[in-house]
Parts: sequence; C-alpha cells; structure tokens
Amino acid sequence: MSLPTPQLVELRDRLEKNLGDEPGIEGILARIERWGPDLIAGIEDVYPESGLAERIIDIVSNGLRARSHTLRMRDRIRLLTPDWFQRPDAVGYAAYADRFAGTLNGVRERIPYLSELGVTYLHLMPLLEPRPGESDGGYAVMDYRKVREDLGTMRDLASLAEALHESDITLTLDLVLNHVAAEHEWAVKARAGDPKYRDYFYIYPDREMPDQYERTLPEVFPDFAPGNFTWDDDLNGWVWTTFNSFQWDVNWTNPDVLCEYIDIIINLANQGVDCLRLDAIAFIVKRMGTNCTNQPEVHGITQILRAAAHIAAPSLIFKAEAIVAPDDLVAYLGRGRHAGRVSDIAYHNSLMVQIWSALASRDARLLAVAMSRFQDIPTTTAWATYVRCHDDIGWAIANEDCEALALNGFEHRRFLSDFYSGAHPASFADGLVFQENPQTLDRRISGTAASLVGLGRGHTAAERRLALDRLMLAYAMAMGFGGLPLIYMGDELALLNDDDFASVPEHADDNRWAHRPAMPWDIADARATTVSDAASAYSGLHRMVHVRRSLESLHASVPTRIYTTSHPSVVCFVRRHPAGDLVQVYNVSDVSVALDSAEILGHGWTLAYDRLSERYLPVVDGHVTLPPYATLWLTEPV
Ligand code: GLC
Repeated sequence: MSLPTPQLVELRDRLEKNLGDEPGIEGILARIERWGPDLIAGIEDVYPESGLAERIIDIVSNGLRARSHTLRMRDRIRLLTPDWFQRPDAVGYAAYADRFAGTLNGVRERIPYLSELGVTYLHLMPLLEPRPGESDGGYAVMDYRKVREDLGTMRDLASLAEALHESDITLTLDLVLNHVAAEHEWAVKARAGDPKYRDYFYIYPDREMPDQYERTLPEVFPDFAPGNFTWDDDLNGWVWTTFNSFQWDVNWTNPDVLCEYIDIIINLANQGVDCLRLDAIAFIVKRMGTNCTNQPEVHGITQILRAAAHIAAPSLIFKAEAIVAPDDLVAYLGRGRHAGRVSDIAYHNSLMVQIWSALASRDARLLAVAMSRFQDIPTTTAWATYVRCHDDIGWAIANEDCEALALNGFEHRRFLSDFYSGAHPASFADGLVFQENPQTLDRRISGTAASLVGLGRGHTAAERRLALDRLMLAYAMAMGFGGLPLIYMGDELALLNDDDFASVPEHADDNRWAHRPAMPWDIADARATTVSDAASAYSGLHRMVHVRRSLESLHASVPTRIYTTSHPSVVCFVRRHPAGDLVQVYNVSDVSVALDSAEILGHGWTLAYDRLSERYLPVVDGHVTLPPYATLWLTEPV
C-alpha cells in the first residue's frame, strides 16, 4: 500500500469527525483508505472545483449514519465475499414488478418461484415514480425517492429487499442517470427560472449550438423522437433530450448534479438495493464534434460514484448498461487507470448479437472472430450475459469482424434484420422491426426469445422441438460464457410475443412492449404437471442453472477462449480453471455435423462427460456426431 496523501488524510479526518461516535468506525475508516484514492483520482480527472471531495464525504457520512444495522452486517459479509456476482451459482432474472406479480408485495410472494429456478439476482425494471402517461417503460423518473404508487412504497421496497436477502437473492434496480422526467422537481424549478436548476440541464436560447451538435449526433428513437433537442416555452430554450422529448438530459459537468446522484445512490443502497443498473451510462458526457457517447469522462464519473458508494455501502455494486460498439465496451469495466474501478458488471451486448447472428446464418465463425477480438476484462468484474432483454436488438456487428470472413458488414446487418423480422425466405423467426432509420437503413428488432427462435411459427412437433433446442442453445451460450447470466422474465416458459401490446395507448407506438408480456401464472404453475413447450423450456433452463452451479470453471474471473472447428456451424467455448476445465460445444445449425473427435477432445482428454445430459460423449470410429443445435458442456469424467 502506498502512503496516504495529505488530501486522503484530510478526508479521513473529516469522516472521523463526522462519524467518530458510530459503531464500527475503524472499519469505516479502513474503507476511506481503500476507496479514497479512487475518489480523489476520479475528481481530479473530471471536476476542477475545489472542496468537492469534502462535500462528497459529508454526503457519504449522512448516508452512513442512516444505514441500518442489518445492512452494515451485510456490508461486512460482502467485503469478505466480493466475488458473489462472479460465482457460478449467480444467475439473474429481470422483470417488470407489475408484469411479474402486480406489486412489490406480490413479488415477495413469488420468491419461492425464483428460488426454485435457481435465481440469485433479481433485477426489477424501473419502479421509481415515473412521469404520468408515457414514461419510456419507467425510464422517465419524476422522483428517485418514491416508488411508483401502484407498486407500493419505499417501505415495501425495503421489506422486499430484506425478504429477498433472506432467500439469498440480491436486488438490482435501475439508476437512470442520463436524464430525468420533464416533470422532475429539478426540471420544474428550471422551468420556473431558478438559475441553479437551469444549470442541471443543457439549455440553449436558439438553434445555434443544437444545430452544431446535431451534425454528429445519432438519433436513438428516430421514429417517435427525432432529433436530440426539444423546445420548451417555459424554459424559453431548447433542452437536450437524447431519448424522448419528456426525458431531459442532466448536466454532469455540474458538480451539484454529481452530488445529487451520490445522495440518491446511497439512499437506494440504504433500502437494501445491492446493485444499480447504470442506465444509458454511455450518454452522460457530451462533447462537440463527437457522437456524445463513450466520452472518457464517463469513466472518471463512474469511478467517483463507485468510490463514494463503497465508502458508505460497500456491498453495493454497479452494472453498466452501455449498448455500444465492441471496441468501446470493455472500458465500462475499466481499462488503464480505471481498470476494476468503474462498473462491476457490464452487459455483453456483442455476445448477445453474435448468438442471434450465428443462429440465423448457421455459422459460428463470426461469433468466434468477434469474441476473440475482445480484450480480457479485470478479474474482479463480470459480463452480464443474456439472450435478450426488455429492449430491442440492434445489430452491433463491426465491419472489420465481417471483413475477416469476407462478409460485408452492412449486408450482414441487413440480412439479420430481414431474418428476424421474418422477411427472409429462410427465416424461422417472428420479430418486429423497431425504429427503422431511413438515413442509416438501420433496423432494430423486437421480440421475445421464443418468438425469435421460431416457436411461434413452428407448426409441427418437430419444428417446435427445433425451436426449443435453439432457445436452449442460445441460453446455454449465455450461461456458459462465464459472467452473470440473465434470464428475461418469461423466457423460462418460452413466452411468445404479446400480439396485443398496442391495446395500451401509451405502448402503441413502441413495439418493445411486444416482448414484455405479463407473467401467465397459470402456465407457470402447471410447469411440473403438464407436457407443453413452456414446461420443457422451464425444465431445460432449470437444469442448466443447476448444472452451472456445480462448475467452478464458470467463475467470471476466468476468460472464455473460443475456437472454431473444421465445420463452420460448430464452435467450442473453452474455460480453463484450476478446479477443472470445461469445453462447451455448440452446433448452431439445424443439421447433424460429424467431426473428428480430436477437434473436441484435442483439448487434452481421451474421454469426456457431458454435464448437461449426464452422458459420456460417444465417439464412433474416431468421430463425434453432433445433432442439430447440439449443446454439450464437457468435463473430464466425474
Ligand atoms: C436504456 C433502457 C431503455 C430506455 C433508455 C432510456 O437503454 O434500457 O429501455 O429507453 O435507456 O432511458
């Protein structure tokens, strides 16, 4: 450890003065030794103002004072087990509270369902008070200190967190930090002319600056929210609105905004929230002449937020939602001086897209090229691996990866949109086109996993079986890649698109609601007693989750290496771990493939055991035959 700098000593003294009479003060002071340097370095990176670190220490002190005894005990345990989200038994589940169980108390009653499935990490989609009417699925927050009324209260949230913790499940909530609802108190005050709050936003008197920015800005919702600025009469100006016109981007260059969010973060941690999903984090810093995403200051800001949060509530972790190009993604888990100091988890958007690409093209080589180009991530962090989420799928596939296989990136992305919207003649899928951009010809896709693998279009039993096998293969890749796998609500029951989504007027323009159906509890409750697609999807996923737990090689600190084989449809994910290696084999096509067994057993074994089917790998005449969508998780014989 290096010697404390004078500034660190000052911060430590300040914390001691604020909290000297608190029980466990030695532990708290040790935390400032540990995370104070990250805090100071982050501030130096981004904010020139003096006195900011002291202000933050005061916010942290107040937050700490309010932290319950139970959560402080949880902090101690987490400090001893900081890899809880990296372990093979960590499995996530994401759901809208109302669509899953009506209310927060309803969610509490469904904990046994989650436990049975093997879930240890629950992400409840936005549940803080949104603006009335259209709210982008709750991502237009009006009050960060209040729960949406029809779901319950802050007290219900805290007691839900407690009940989840008793069942060994952690709670993740969204922290929307790029924007607030136009009805948020800060926006209301800005509209009333308060200069302090006008500075919380980017407001321009005329089109001069907005036009300059627009030259290089993309459009996130070109269909229903074109442009990035919205005129507001009361403001008498144009306000920056990257997403919808009712979502006002906040100004992170203002240290008051930083301090507000630190306070919000600690308050949520004090309700028992274990992880915050940093929504749209890539957008929070703007720079003229750029696309205003992935700016370097984003990482300095995240480092400050994380250091402050860890001093107050060390069990809290961050998950970055940065749906960005592969080359920009790893920075959210930390590169260079930020390595291991920013988010703990980040969505592996690229893996998700490549899984769909491999299934459509029946060729896994592009997946292997793209994954092999990723840098390793800090060993203390994890990818969130997933097949789909509540958002659309954008075809984030790099041209240069395509070029390595003599493919044209633009054509391949177009093929994927055609394929998953069902327009391509070879398609099995049933997706919907989301946000067609006439300028870039970009077409994203909505749809549940089951609809995208073709379950909705499967007429014969054999077609439905193939679709379910595809679903299992996609999930096996996400569960086997290493990291924190996320199941999106309903995929475990192979739920199809909600064709009726547009009957809710606020949802009609946004077909992402097609893949956010409500939980059909009658189907879920019959999972063990009926023979159905839902029951087979459930038992397949349930099995995978439970096998996963027994494989130490799936700890997220170990990287996955991906190998192609002599057949383009067959790919291996190899995880080497001191506790025993794991070789996963996937056939992404609907035909059987025979391979020389050395291609699979060449990873060092003479005999292999498939942990998923609990069978030895049959080798006949030196060959292994992989049926359509074969999914093997091989270890040495147990
Ligand atoms: C994130 C959310 C998405 C939302 C956007 C704006 O990308 O996942 O649903 O529209 O942020 O908050």
